[in-house]
Amino acid sequence: MEFFKWLTFYQTGNEEIDNQHKKLISLINEMYEAISQNKNFSTSKKILMELVDYTDYHFTEEEELFIKYKYPAAEGHLLQHKNFVDKIWEFKNSIEKEDKLVNMSIFTFLRDWLHNHIVKSDKEYVKYFKKMKLEGF
Ligand SMILES: [Fe+2]
Ligand SMILES: [Fe+2]
Repeated sequence: MEFFKWLTFYQTGNEEIDNQHKKLISLINEMYEAISQNKNFSTSKKILMELVDYTDYHFTEEEELFIKYKYPAAEGHLLQHKNFVDKIWEFKNSIEKEDKLVNMSIFTFLRDWLHNHIVKSDKEYVKYFKKMKLEGF
């Protein structure tokens, strides 16, 4: 059973954004599996670094669109992104310290956060870009 299942419900209509969300979901799943199967820390660290980098890439892509097309609700959206990044860094620190008691509740947080963020906040900017008739939206 996959920890975090992609749902068609997450579809925004923009293929590139959807693929980036899928990639984030699959990295969270990989991370979950590595930690729960007690793989060595170097495997977990490697996947986590990938998650850190990919999150940065995805958020930057969205944020560049906001600047480029003057998205009016960008400020609140950016704060949400920061919240997620902070949490991942917190997690990264405990993995780097090779903390054997890694708190698994982080995964519920990441899953619920991403679920809510895609469904509410990301779909909100997509709606705005659709109204502007931007290509790809
Ligand atoms: Fe976002
Ligand atoms: Fe997103």
